[in-house]
Amino acid sequence: MEIKRLTVGNATLDSNIFLAPIAGYTDYAFRKATYTFGYGLSFTELVSAKGLFFGGNNSAELLKADDYERTSAQLFGADPFYMRTACESDYLKPYKFVDINMGCPVPKVYKNGEGSALLNDIKKAELIIKECVKSGKIITVKIRKGLKAGDDIATDFAKMAENAGASLITIHARVREDYYSGDPDYDCIKRAKQSVKIPVIANGGIFTVEDADKMINETGADGVMLARGAISNPFLVCELLKKDNPTDIKSFIINHFNLMIESLGTNRAVAEFRKFVPYYFKGKDNAKAVKLAVNSASEPIQVLTALNEYFSCENF
Ligand SMILES: Cc1cc2nc3c(=O)[nH]c(=O)nc-3n(C[C@H](O)[C@H](O)[C@H](O)COP(=O)(O)O)c2cc1C
Repeated sequence: MEIKRLTVGNATLDSNIFLAPIAGYTDYAFRKATYTFGYGLSFTELVSAKGLFFGGNNSAELLKADDYERTSAQLFGADPFYMRTACESDYLKPYKFVDINMGCPVPKVYKNGEGSALLNDIKKAELIIKECVKSGKIITVKIRKGLKAGDDIATDFAKMAENAGASLITIHARVREDYYSGDPDYDCIKRAKQSVKIPVIANGGIFTVEDADKMINETGADGVMLARGAISNPFLVCELLKKDNPTDIKSFIINHFNLMIESLGTNRAVAEFRKFVPYYFKGKDNAKAVKLAVNSASEPIQVLTALNEYFSCENF
């Protein structure tokens, strides 16, 4: 794919490769571990606008970042008032970019009319965008192709979002009922891209350089957003940028774990690092022992010992 700088609102991003918001994964530690890798923009995990209003510590923790020039806060909510108030709150003060989640499929979000439920209500979605734009932040929107098989709301939503003042739209080319499986529908992104002037970012099923090339060739999108592909191969972004990996995979993983300890404390870091094991060691020979050891570890030293033993056997 062609790498280019991207103008988004009044900002210019260094590349058209984005790191997706992924709840439980792309937290402060993971984003910090990849800050220098070349993403044009990285996103926080989704944060509840209402949660911020009512002072939830958890929501505030999700907004911790260092690199506000290249990090966007992602908000979810169904109430234009809470959404705008969140944009204008002290929590979001350092952020230039705010992304509105209109794609989350999980029932506890959906049943409140939030996330992907907004795809059912274009008028409400429009009101939310317009209110958020009034905050002066650069507002972007992340949608899905629809709710169920056969839906394609991407073009209508892209046009609406542009008219409402959004500066960029990301399209996850699957419907809600797909969750995260199945092939992305390139045509829905292509049609949306042809109907607006704001940048359109394509998302869904990009795990290799070839996947990214295909996504751009088939859709004409302005850039790609990497999600699970960026966790299973943290250097995918470097491969796309055709630059050397900044480090080796062992150093990356150990640095990531150390950043988790710094930001989450030892107990949570040890517990939450387990989620990364299926990604970091997927398809790797002889990974059984390291997986078992990490999954049963209660102290950081046990995790680090298991990682060191695994890599010293030159399994990678
Ligand atoms: C565990 C998990 C958590 C996610 N959390 C978010 C989120 O907080 N906000 C969001 O907009 N999308 C979220 N997504 C969706 C991803 O950003 C992305 O759209 C989706 O994984 C499709 O891309 P992929 O096929 O390349 O993984 C999540 C996906 C997964 C698997």
